Amino acid sequence: MQIVLSNKQPNECLTLLFVTTLSPKSDQTKMLSKAGFSLKEGTTYLDIHHNILYVASRSLCCEDLKISAAKAIQSIQKSSFTTLFIALEHYQDKLDVKALAEGLILGDYYYTQYKHESQKHQERKTIIAYSGSMYTKNHLEELLHEVEIICRNVNFVRDIVNTPPQDYYPHIMALDAKYLAKRDGLECKILGEHEMHEMGMNAILSVGRASVHESHLIHLTYRPKNPKVKIVLLGKGLTYDSGGLSLKSADSMVSMKCDKAGASAVMGVMYTLKALGLACEVHGIIGAVENMIGGNAYKPDDILRAKNGMTIEVKNTDAEGRLVLADCLCYAQDEIEDFDYIFDFSTLTGASIVALGSHTTAVMGHNDTLKNKINTAALQCGELVGFLPYNRYFENDLDSEIADMVNTASSRNGGAITASLFLDRFVKEKNKKKWLHFDMAGAAYAHKAWGYNPYGASGAGVRLIVQFLKNITKESHSKL
Ligand code: BES
Ligand code: ZN
Ligand code: ZN
Repeated sequence: MQIVLSNKQPNECLTLLFVTTLSPKSDQTKMLSKAGFSLKEGTTYLDIHHNILYVASRSLCCEDLKISAAKAIQSIQKSSFTTLFIALEHYQDKLDVKALAEGLILGDYYYTQYKHESQKHQERKTIIAYSGSMYTKNHLEELLHEVEIICRNVNFVRDIVNTPPQDYYPHIMALDAKYLAKRDGLECKILGEHEMHEMGMNAILSVGRASVHESHLIHLTYRPKNPKVKIVLLGKGLTYDSGGLSLKSADSMVSMKCDKAGASAVMGVMYTLKALGLACEVHGIIGAVENMIGGNAYKPDDILRAKNGMTIEVKNTDAEGRLVLADCLCYAQDEIEDFDYIFDFSTLTGASIVALGSHTTAVMGHNDTLKNKINTAALQCGELVGFLPYNRYFENDLDSEIADMVNTASSRNGGAITASLFLDRFVKEKNKKKWLHFDMAGAAYAHKAWGYNPYGASGAGVRLIVQFLKNITKESHSKL
């Protein structure tokens, strides 16, 4: 989706009209009612005689408008119209242009990489006419520039997560990281199995041992001139999760290419930073691994020693994400000094979906002020988050008789929380209040399209973290 500012309406285009109310006696209402159009969100009516697409929207801003804009563009997916036209003047300055652009770019995403040439997605264009509105061209350009950077990266993340596992394995993730780091001037360090072995990272190495693909730890760094804050973002990059010897069932293995969504979101955020010019030093650390079966696979009953020396009794090889993140947490805290925040992103547990449903990211941690900041960012950007509480009665659930801990609690109840508490054991005391855990198992991948999210990967995490970074850099700016 290309968005262009121009006051000229081309001959061949489709005018987009958002409808929030229907005034009882108007001719337009009569015509729309006759055509079966209602105000139900996302309902569309294409008037082919006048080239007008009517779209019902609950309101003209924020999520309402994003969803309606996405529905509009999706409704003409198979039509020959390639150009849309929107006149801001028509809405008396009430149309939220940022939300409009976001809905159009995110709603016009289709993963067609593996489709026949004739089925590939044709890029569309939307022309926004601003004359007669309160917006100046400069203001609009600035606003659209930011939306485009963020949304293009959301779509980039969707592409990575949707790519099938035979074509996207740890080495490819490392190559992607290297290539894009070069483009954006980020530092990029890639550890292979040998280096990880030297560093004692046996938890991550064990998970990847039965794969034919080498495991990698990827460390990307964005260092602007005068950073106001320093943040570490960790991502679970399971390019495939078969469950390992605790093999998943046939049904639940399908879509496990999505297990790289945490890592992909971290990459997506990293590639917005230079373009947005954010004043924060950001470290993106990714554990890129494939969890497979084989004669040399790690086993339930194995006891693994993580980078910090702690031993983990494996009860279930399908709880592999926490093992990967445990070593990533150790690496980050050993290698990076004096950071302000440390967040981890993963599709960690099915239990988080049971708890919050499949649209919402589960967030956990010890710092309520920080959680409030995430809540604010979520409300601003439209991603959905929910907070799951710890309590003292979970504390002993991960104790092992023969090692320092087990990797899964004996009960599945509260599984998203016990997974988070496993990671908590790898967060140093001084960093407890800086840490948050994001379980995106539901939000990262949709088995059925919803809102402006298509079938498959949603790109969750990018808009949320960019919004958080924007907020905290502004906050520390105003403190100076
Ligand atoms: N990658 C899965 C979690 C997942 C589930 C992601 C559904 C996306 C959708 C994770 O590695 C896993 O298998 N977790 C287990 C943990 C259990 C063995 C304690 C789970 O959720 O069943
Ligand atoms: Zn698993
Ligand atoms: Zn997994």
